[in-house]
Amino acid sequence: MKTVYLETFGCQMNELDSELVRGHLESLGYSFTTETDDADVLLFNTCSVREHAESKAYSRVGIVGKRKKAGEKLILGVLGCMAERDGVDMLRRYPQIDLLCGPGELDKLPMLIDNVVRTAALEHPMAADIEDRVALAGNTSRRSAALSASADDLETLDLARAFDPDRATSGVRSAYVRITRGCNKFCTYCVVPYTRGAEVHRPPDSIVEECRRLAASGVIEVTLLGQTVNHYRYTHGMAVTLDGREQPQIGPGLSAFRNETVDDPNLTTFAKLLARIHDEVPELSRIRFLTSYPKDFGHDVLEVMASRPRICRYLHVPVQSGSNRILKLMNRGYTVEEYLEFTDRVLEVLPDATIAGDIIVGFPTETDEDFELTKDLLRRVPYKNNFIFKYSPRPGTTAINRFEDDVPLDVKKLRNNQLLALQAEIGAAVHAEWVGREVDVLVERITNRSPISDAAPSAADPRISLGAALAPAKGPRDHPSSLAVQISGRTPGDLITVLNVPTRDRAEQLLGTIVRVRIEGSGPLILHGRMVDLDATVPDKLRH
Ligand code: 5AD
Ligand code: SF4
Repeated sequence: MKTVYLETFGCQMNELDSELVRGHLESLGYSFTTETDDADVLLFNTCSVREHAESKAYSRVGIVGKRKKAGEKLILGVLGCMAERDGVDMLRRYPQIDLLCGPGELDKLPMLIDNVVRTAALEHPMAADIEDRVALAGNTSRRSAALSASADDLETLDLARAFDPDRATSGVRSAYVRITRGCNKFCTYCVVPYTRGAEVHRPPDSIVEECRRLAASGVIEVTLLGQTVNHYRYTHGMAVTLDGREQPQIGPGLSAFRNETVDDPNLTTFAKLLARIHDEVPELSRIRFLTSYPKDFGHDVLEVMASRPRICRYLHVPVQSGSNRILKLMNRGYTVEEYLEFTDRVLEVLPDATIAGDIIVGFPTETDEDFELTKDLLRRVPYKNNFIFKYSPRPGTTAINRFEDDVPLDVKKLRNNQLLALQAEIGAAVHAEWVGREVDVLVERITNRSPISDAAPSAADPRISLGAALAPAKGPRDHPSSLAVQISGRTPGDLITVLNVPTRDRAEQLLGTIVRVRIEGSGPLILHGRMVDLDATVPDKLRH
């Protein structure tokens, strides 16, 4: 049987896709390895959002090409958004690639691998029909025609997913749950509506059922995923099979959000979905969601969050720019004033909420004045962190066709670094507010006793790694030497928290549990604390 190496690039949606692919292939008898050298099938689940992510994947493809040229018998598959975006051209340019599978066709992956294995036995494998090696959604019109069938298969893939208790015992008791695929927003810089297709919402019963099953196998935290989660809405009685099962449903036009009809019993809104999961799956200690769109975020969602304690008061709500002129060119559909009205409203209803965001610097025509406006906006919102990206023109998007990429790279870099520095100040102030308070931390990692690195967040990689998170913090770190092992986790507000425990055994016991921590120090990206009751007994990790 085949051994697979699967590497994931990009976002949480890709991480979830990889997990589903892994579960599916494992159920068919494939085994997995973390070493490329031990694998005979190499799969790269790729991301197209920025050029940087694509270059990284291509360099991996190049390395595999060399190994294959040197005579190694390997199967190389490119999955995800790059496969969808580049299509069969990629197979022509990189003959070492054996198969392509777009994000909307992942249920067909085992069949594609099987086809490659069979044709490899032929004398002239390259003569194999390209159709047998490719599963892509193709253009959008074809996509809509094929929607019900393909979405149904994908639905099965989501539902068939099994939570792996082996991984749970090593501390991972969080799972992603998709609520919506695709995106209808068409922000001018973004490839997602092209690579992941039109917005499709999963039936609420399926989502609740998946959460219930995950909880039954030991998961205590779910993160609901969608490109714009607050656009989730499912109208009942419309997409039903003959045997009465509800099917995934295409998202409504954005006008659906103009006249809120939240009382309609035939409609499950995002607020109602959150409430259902909270109320119907009480075993879940934490319910989170990503990513929120600053517009169309109804008051009903905030009310559900305020009245249900296990829904995390954490919003990732990207603003992208602080200039109304740039927001318009980006087709974001809101103004800075509307964004601020929203974040103010969030903090009014949920005073202890934490907010994170994304910003793009160097969008075409961005002037120093536009950039200053972005800085003003950052100073105005208490962001716990911001992911900052340099604009990257993406083939096929409106922005690349309409606007010249006219902000020089060194200006983009400068603005990127200035924003990182400003965000570090803001993040330090936000984190400092928590010193002296007690928080619940879901322990995720043993980070060891290694000397705390002085590394500042890397300008090249705006995603926060734990290494960067361990940047110098103000506050006591002179723990008694008996507290020898460092562990880290997250608060309900997604604040990374580091603490020390006496032994490695103790640290391992605590993995995947929620502990009460008193916060004693803080930095721009982390909190430092002490367990309130170091000797408390640890609850059983798995209920089942
Ligand atoms: N260039 C730079 N950043 C981008 N993002 C999306 N597309 C691009 C692009 N072409 C960023 C946005 C988005 C995040 C996931 O990636 O900030 O919120
Ligand atoms: Fe891309 Fe905009 Fe959709 Fe987000 S909302 S995935 S940035 S098109």
